[in-house]
Amino acid sequence: GAVKQYDWTIDYAFWSPDCVEKLIIAINGQYPGPTIDATVGDTIVVKIHNKMPTESVVIHWHGMLQRGTPWADGAAYVSQCPIAPHDEYTYQFVVENAGTYFYHGHHGMQRANGFYGSLIVRPPNGTVEPFTYDEELSIIVNDWWHKPVHDQELGLLINPIRWVGDPQSLLIEGRGAYNCSLVPVGADSKSADRTCNASAPQCQPYVLPVTPGKTYRLRIASVASVNSLNFVLEGHNMMVVEADGHYVEPVVMDNLDVYSGESYSILFTANQDPTRNYWAGLNIRGRNATTPTGLAVLNYLPNPSTMLPTTPAPVSPLWNDFNLSLAKAKLIKAHSSLKIPFTKTSRSDKTLFLLNTQNKVDGVTKWAINNITLVPVSTPYLAAYTHKKLKNVFSTSPPPPLSYTPGYDIFQPPVNPNATVGTGVYEFKLNEVIDVVLQNTNMLAANTSEIHPWHLHGHDFYVLGMGNGVFSSNEYDRLNFVNPPLRNTVPLFPYGWTVIRFRADNPGVWPFHCHIEPHFHMGMGVIFAEGVDLLPKMHLPAQNMGCGLTRNLIRG
Ligand code: C2O
Ligand code: CU
Repeated sequence: GAVKQYDWTIDYAFWSPDCVEKLIIAINGQYPGPTIDATVGDTIVVKIHNKMPTESVVIHWHGMLQRGTPWADGAAYVSQCPIAPHDEYTYQFVVENAGTYFYHGHHGMQRANGFYGSLIVRPPNGTVEPFTYDEELSIIVNDWWHKPVHDQELGLLINPIRWVGDPQSLLIEGRGAYNCSLVPVGADSKSADRTCNASAPQCQPYVLPVTPGKTYRLRIASVASVNSLNFVLEGHNMMVVEADGHYVEPVVMDNLDVYSGESYSILFTANQDPTRNYWAGLNIRGRNATTPTGLAVLNYLPNPSTMLPTTPAPVSPLWNDFNLSLAKAKLIKAHSSLKIPFTKTSRSDKTLFLLNTQNKVDGVTKWAINNITLVPVSTPYLAAYTHKKLKNVFSTSPPPPLSYTPGYDIFQPPVNPNATVGTGVYEFKLNEVIDVVLQNTNMLAANTSEIHPWHLHGHDFYVLGMGNGVFSSNEYDRLNFVNPPLRNTVPLFPYGWTVIRFRADNPGVWPFHCHIEPHFHMGMGVIFAEGVDLLPKMHLPAQNMGCGLTRNLIRG
């Protein structure tokens, strides 16, 4: 493969993604960050210069397997020490699977501050894909708040919690539109530092240009901080053909649920009345939010892109029709060309049962997995595993329950709301087949349970099934062993369960966490240490060190 080299300067920028100015994190002065466009087998080399005076950074390459390069995964304090202000760091890894991916900050809540971009991997030259199209388009979607991201971050960690609430806008490829008449009086360009300017170039709607009659592949990825999003192409059906970098059985939808951390390719044909343009719309599902529809323009050429549709913003299914959400998620199945390496009778070597609960620790609201809420460490887990002399970085006890606690009522708030803090490590031997049962529950308040999109680093996993209520092992007979989709992110629905399977064949230390950024920040994740016997033989680059106990290694 080729070597693709990038030189990125990370710094703050004043930007107006939805017409309201905000301090964001830009890459080379761009937002969203530059797109990486590569081919399977290429080596990606990204040299990072952190120019932010007081914030350290990392970049996670979401969906990249990092086989043989677990230190390049870019998860702060898991795979590396974050890159200090004015410091440099070079990521180097090989891209393994063709598909639609993205990258984003993975330290604090920097992703929510605009620190992300697209990563597209193309199949090797000459590969025939299981579908055809004329041209390609690509968007990243997210939710957007005016409140500075540090305010958001700190508000989540205090008692009582200051939850981030509904986003002010939804962005398509970094662009949205806030109604400037809603900005409080005085917050105008003359009297305050927060400006709202409806004609700012940065908040003009993103344009998807199409030629009538042609068929398009549209890549969609979500880096949403909190919300489950639903994408609609006014007047057009979409055929889903790829999810998280794997081909899926083609399925036609008139609207697409996209959970944070997921990516899709859809095909559509520009076969509608060509004398007008259409809306591409983005709405929130899963929460009863007041946020207006995010809009981009599907621009039928040669109409001007400024010719905005006069039709209303596209609507999405009811926010709380969770049975519909579940049914839609189950429509995604592996493409028939994907060989499934197990059958109905194959069992896992280890099954983890992960109970997702909302809890309190010293009165502060947290999320916990098997009653343990993940707390930050100051020495990267990977360094602790590769250097045996680093002790007491994390604990693998108390051993987590590997089955459902009999009698736990998932439809009621937790009887004991208190959780303990922990470092959440689950160790696997090389090549063990792992099943993970994610079980959702009622939150602290009665009659509440919400969606959690779970993302695994270092792997794709098979989604064996999802359902409502408590998962019982009898359900194994009804799971999908025929065409389970291979994904890196999967939703866990309210009061429901999700079962995934993967083989622990990638030595390293991999976070498995809820992709809702505030939830992860509030402890909703676990750490998988894989091939632990092999890790001490691994040579961790010196540039990954410098924090916590790794300072002692440098001093010798
Ligand atoms: Cu895209 Cu650990 O996250
Ligand atoms: Cu969550």
